[in-house]
Amino acid sequence: MAAVVTSNLDEAADVLRRGGLVAFPTETVYGLGASARDPDAVARIFAAKGRPADHPLIVHLARAEALDSWAVDVPAVARSLARAFWPGPLTLILRRAPGVLDAVTGGQETVGLRVPSHPVARQLLEAFGDGVAAPSANRFGRVSPTRAEHVLAELGDRVDRIVEGGSCEVGLESTIVDCSSGQAVILRPGGVTQEMLEASLGVPVPLRQTSDVRAPGQLPSHYAPRAQVILTSTGEVDTRARELLGRGARVGVLRAGAPAALPEGVTVVDIAADLETAARELYARLRQADDEGLDALLVVLPPEIGVGRAIADRLRRAAGPRPEVSARSPSDS
Ligand code: TXA
Ligand code: MG
Repeated sequence: MAAVVTSNLDEAADVLRRGGLVAFPTETVYGLGASARDPDAVARIFAAKGRPADHPLIVHLARAEALDSWAVDVPAVARSLARAFWPGPLTLILRRAPGVLDAVTGGQETVGLRVPSHPVARQLLEAFGDGVAAPSANRFGRVSPTRAEHVLAELGDRVDRIVEGGSCEVGLESTIVDCSSGQAVILRPGGVTQEMLEASLGVPVPLRQTSDVRAPGQLPSHYAPRAQVILTSTGEVDTRARELLGRGARVGVLRAGAPAALPEGVTVVDIAADLETAARELYARLRQADDEGLDALLVVLPPEIGVGRAIADRLRRAAGPRPEVSARSPSDS
């Protein structure tokens, strides 16, 4: 069935009930949703994304009260975070309740749960009346979509409906906090910042750097545009740009703030200096780099405070080694 961009949420909920795939907006990024109780529907998510089937999915709920149908042994710290930050861009990892599908948890004993705040997501979840499993609505390894047209371009022929909901407010995937051990540990930084979590709980909330969990967001080469993202420092932008231009590459610089002198022929991809705004714009800017046909995008990481940590995390992963890059022609290397 061809994808239909729609605003009819009752009909989209029906499509979910019949086992279909519905892409929908959240405050973070667009999700690719299916009924979390329907193994065939969940299998369709993995097929559409081209994502390995053992990677776990987040279950989206209309209300925090539904948490106990999906998780057991919920520790006080998780209740406290749910009260403070739901609905919102926070995913909690908890011990799964009996009956939660292996296809959703990737066979693990934990499940990721989130109550999104986007009004369209909430209305869709209310209309559907149960959990919706949804990864970001992009092809595996690619940049997450923050507008309906991004989903249409990338997955349009592989989903049954795309619910229109404008631009995503946060622009980066949710903060993932593992509470399954009884203590909060950040697995993926996001819009709910480490500072916010610590202020709310009154204890340090560490960021786990590595994980034994099969988590695509934690692979080094995730969230990548086609252009090769190259991390550099402000002082080295000019030299790096000249080097790349000398090899015949089409070079861009992702840059916030006042223009400094750049070598002739370098494309400036502007991004806001304000971190919240930069987070909101980041993925659209990476897509822009691809639309402009850039081979390389030079990037200076933002300060790692607040949501700057999440931006830096995604840019590092975008810059991570990936097979496609080395498989390209030598001029790209
Ligand atoms: O903001 C978001 O979180 C978006 C929107 C659509 O809600 N979703 C999203 O899903 O980013 P996805 O699948 O692209 O990333 C979810 C991350 C993955 O890294 C996955 O491995 C991790 O959450 N995850 C899910 N369940 C988990 C679990 N039980 N334990 C550890 N990590 C888990
Ligand atoms: Mg994703």
